[in-house]
Amino acid sequence: RKRVLSGVQPTGSIHLGNYFGAIRNYVKLQEEYDAFYCVVDLHAITNGEVEPAVLERSTRTSAAIYLAAGVDASKASVFVQSHVPAHSELCWLLNCAAPIGWLEKMIQFKEKARKAGEDVSVGLLDYPVLMAADILLYKADLVPVGEDQRQHLELTRDLAGRVNGLYGGKKWKKRKGKAPSGRSRGGDVLLVPEAFTPKEGGRVMSLTDGASKMSKSNPAEGSRINVLDTPDEIAKKIKRCKTDAFEGLEFGNPERPEANNLLTMYQLCTGKTREEVLADCGSMRWGDFKPVLTDAVIEHLSPIQTRYNEIMDEPGYLDGVLKEGADKANEVANTTLRDVRDAMGFVQF
Ligand code: TYM
Repeated sequence: RKRVLSGVQPTGSIHLGNYFGAIRNYVKLQEEYDAFYCVVDLHAITNGEVEPAVLERSTRTSAAIYLAAGVDASKASVFVQSHVPAHSELCWLLNCAAPIGWLEKMIQFKEKARKAGEDVSVGLLDYPVLMAADILLYKADLVPVGEDQRQHLELTRDLAGRVNGLYGGKKWKKRKGKAPSGRSRGGDVLLVPEAFTPKEGGRVMSLTDGASKMSKSNPAEGSRINVLDTPDEIAKKIKRCKTDAFEGLEFGNPERPEANNLLTMYQLCTGKTREEVLADCGSMRWGDFKPVLTDAVIEHLSPIQTRYNEIMDEPGYLDGVLKEGADKANEVANTTLRDVRDAMGFVQF
């Protein structure tokens, strides 16, 4: 079976962008793929801002939200990145094959480095290499992510190609007298993955500015709806969100990013087609549409929140899932790591 791998950083509350851009697709893909979904706690410390107690809580909350959103622990391995030491080790091996210029070109690095100024950590620059390690360890065919991660996926593909060129295929076979084990094509050391971004929901925008994406790091809480927000909070945020002075509502008008974003949010929450959404809401005023959208968001999130509370209330359940997930993940990851070490010439242990 083909494999998928993905992950979310436990750096704050999971919002509708994370949910529609990524987590909802975890649920769909687990039916057809061997799925590995991790909470990437090692990534969460790259800017040194996360309090230890917050990291701990957020790691558990994130895993519980995967499950509450419909990730099924009997179909997918749900685990914590730092429970699988191979991620850090492969990251080092990849570091030594990764040209620094590739990393300096990453948009997210440039943006975050600008904000961090002198305090920018080596970890922030290295972030995409650790992400590549996450993916390549599982020989993932497909990686469900939002659009903002596509550049990191490209880097992962380039890095896999480079490692294969340096150590893979014929070179490895010649030295070892055997083709490598595993499931990569043509005896490659690593498998080159593909990104999977949804047609709708790949880039959910901020409630306070339709031109910037919804993000955990925006200090304005009113800019995002979190999966665990109460109905009151959701209603308040939508009531205050940015709109425009046009008549009616429409998709795809570049002068109306807020209209496009909020209609898309409604579409995603109700599961309706664009045509149905336009038939229902196209002629509404903002004042009529906002309560309709509020109800749709609350209705969509309510069963997820109920399951979330059940999961958190059941002693030991989440830890059990994470333990089992880590066991399965360690097995697969260690096989790949052994292959890479072997291909690079490390004496087997
Ligand atoms: P993170 O934690 O920032 O976001 C988690 C997922 O949510 C998506 N996303 C969005 N999608 C649509 N609209 C938005 N406004 C929005 N904001 C975030 C992200 O694209 C992502 O899919 N580097 C990753 C975490 C990571 C990872 C990996 C992902 C580490 N290792 C391996 C996949 C595979 C990140 O920072 O995601």
